[in-house]
Amino acid sequence: MTRPSSRTALITGGNRGLGRAAALALAADGTDVVLTYRGNADEATAVVGEVEALGRRAAALQLDTTVPGSFAAFAETLAATLQDVFGRETFDVLVNNAGYAGWTPFGEMTEEVLDELLAVHVKGPILLTELLAPSVADGGRIVFVSTGLTRFVANPAYSAYASAKGAIEVYTKYAAKALGARAITVNVLAPGATATDFAGGVIRDDEDYRAMISGLVAFGRIGEPDDIGGAVRAIASESAGWVTGQRIEASGGQAL
Ligand SMILES: NC(=O)c1ccc[n+]([C@@H]2O[C@H](COP(=O)([O-])OP(=O)(O)OC[C@H]3O[C@@H](n4cnc5c(N)ncnc54)[C@H](OP(=O)(O)O)[C@@H]3O)[C@@H](O)[C@H]2O)c1
Repeated sequence: MTRPSSRTALITGGNRGLGRAAALALAADGTDVVLTYRGNADEATAVVGEVEALGRRAAALQLDTTVPGSFAAFAETLAATLQDVFGRETFDVLVNNAGYAGWTPFGEMTEEVLDELLAVHVKGPILLTELLAPSVADGGRIVFVSTGLTRFVANPAYSAYASAKGAIEVYTKYAAKALGARAITVNVLAPGATATDFAGGVIRDDEDYRAMISGLVAFGRIGEPDDIGGAVRAIASESAGWVTGQRIEASGGQAL
């Protein structure tokens, strides 16, 4: 099989936070990037500019990953973009990153919050991945984004959030089995506490919280987005082609 000269990645929620960091890390590694954004087109355009400044091609497409009814139209727009901007019919790396935290202390669970968390962390990523899998090139990479909270209970109020992430960790193994015949690896990255807008920015902005978490981390600090960008780049790299169906934690050794 002739490999295209440049790889192309699709990253959901690439306009800020870990998705942006993944976009820049992959671009620095020679990968072109399609990133999705939900509402903030200006942020997405800025990341496109940052990728282009690294010498790679980039495009931004709107997508709400909690609206599966929009996925077919998104797939058509993606196909047209791959053709027009990248001269491709396929892409090589899918990073299912978009998502947010939920706050569900025991006894205060609501159906609405549970449905929202399952929609963004389970339903959307699974349906999008199965829809787009035929467009992932043989030998490609699929990365789901979970959380360290599936392994340790840092705060009981993350029960629904962590449980939803746990579901995608299980699905990762089934998808890896399904796509192995095409040499597509499917892995799930579990970041530890990382300084982004996540959970209202508390990990980044609250000094006391930072200090408390840092004390639980082998490296003695919380994660920065580039730490996670580097982990995505490693899992998506061509040299990681024999690693599949795995949960890979990138937390600097949180709660060991
Ligand atoms: N930061 C951490 O400590 C940490 C740790 C473990 C796992 N994670 C996971 O890492 C992923 C990225 O989080 P982050 O820290 O980068 O948070 P962030 O800075 O808040 O960014 C979240 C991204 O997800 C997008 N998004 C949220 N809901 C969406 C939806 N329904 N449709 C499409 N896009 C949506 C956001 O788009 P908008 O800009 O439109 O809102 C944004 O681009 C999430 O899955 C999160 O659960 C984060």
